[in-house]
Amino acid sequence: MFWDKLTFPIIGLSPMDGVTDAPARFVAKKYGQADIIYTEFVSAEGLWRIHKRGDAEEKIWKDLKYGEIERPVIAQIFGSDPEAFYESAKIIYQLGFDGIDINMGCPSPGLEKRGGGAGLIRDKCNAKEVIEATRKGSGGLPVSVKTRIGSAEPDESWWRFLAEQNLPVVAMHGRTFKQLYKGEADWDLLLKAGEIIREGGTKFLGNGDISQIYCQFGPVQFFGSAASTSQGSEGIPAPKLDSSSTDSLIFAVGLKSGKKIDLFGKMDGVLIGREALGNPWILRKDGYVPTLKEKLQVMVEHAYKYQELMGNDYGKEDYQFFPMRKHLVSYVKGFEGSAGLRKQLVTATSAEEVDDIVSAFIL
Ligand SMILES: Cc1cc2nc3c(=O)[nH]c(=O)nc-3n(C[C@H](O)[C@H](O)[C@H](O)COP(=O)(O)O)c2cc1C
Repeated sequence: MFWDKLTFPIIGLSPMDGVTDAPARFVAKKYGQADIIYTEFVSAEGLWRIHKRGDAEEKIWKDLKYGEIERPVIAQIFGSDPEAFYESAKIIYQLGFDGIDINMGCPSPGLEKRGGGAGLIRDKCNAKEVIEATRKGSGGLPVSVKTRIGSAEPDESWWRFLAEQNLPVVAMHGRTFKQLYKGEADWDLLLKAGEIIREGGTKFLGNGDISQIYCQFGPVQFFGSAASTSQGSEGIPAPKLDSSSTDSLIFAVGLKSGKKIDLFGKMDGVLIGREALGNPWILRKDGYVPTLKEKLQVMVEHAYKYQELMGNDYGKEDYQFFPMRKHLVSYVKGFEGSAGLRKQLVTATSAEEVDDIVSAFIL
């Protein structure tokens, strides 16, 4: 199973509907060196229905399009009907994915009410059935869960439930369903949940508000000030100065709030979502920061990739470049002339146009 072969720490691109399409995932892998990649979520019921109908034109197939570079690549599904999970797991297996992830965290109120996404947190009985049905249809692919710390409130019984499900991995966003995306992700609770879930041998990936990764391998000279715990005073326990030992490793995250959290020995990795938009380099473990020129060149490559992968109908009337624009503007922030460049890019209608705009800017 690929989860066991990944080296610590695991850094993955968090799934984002409408954002982490195949071109964005290509960039996250090529330039961010992401260890794992999830597709945007797709409806288990929808996938089953469309597959039965044999409708090759449906958008769902575009959502499930992936390139070899993305491996290991995990398809994420949502819903509440175990039978649909069973049937869609069989389809995902046939499509050649490396793993299947069940969404138990989507805060869409409609979906939650119907018992899907975060709605599964309040119905452990059905959550169990969904996991078992997915496993049954998976052809042996690893079945993981991505969820939140609780429904209305943080919920330790939910963490204990997950710990008992024999899952290879649980990824957890440090907000409740009720919080949606408000407030801050609670990493103290994620550390507690991680402790419980890892006890039974399940790997744990923390998620929410990460803006930086601190990872240092080999003999560690420097220590303490760059990474302190959320309490702020303890600092990270000093590793041994031994390059052959994994003890000589810093693994910590910086959050949007400015807090820095030591994760070494406490979590197996993290998922990063919003901050990776226009910044795939954030997923890297070596702290690499691209030059502005490189960033813009990768943006152009991303635009061509978008055209190649999503625009097989390029030239036809229904092809639309505009979903690419949100990526373009996220690459272009915080440097001299960025506002003017953004203004030009938001009206671009093709990768060639993006290329011309960037060439004129760089010259
Ligand atoms: C636009 C958007 C779409 C999302 N779609 C999904 C999804 O399809 N599946 C999922 O599990 N989480 C989804 N999420 C949640 C993210 O994967 C992640 O858990 C959340 O954004 C917190 O991480 P971050 O602070 O690093 O972005 C989405 C988030 C955003 C902002």
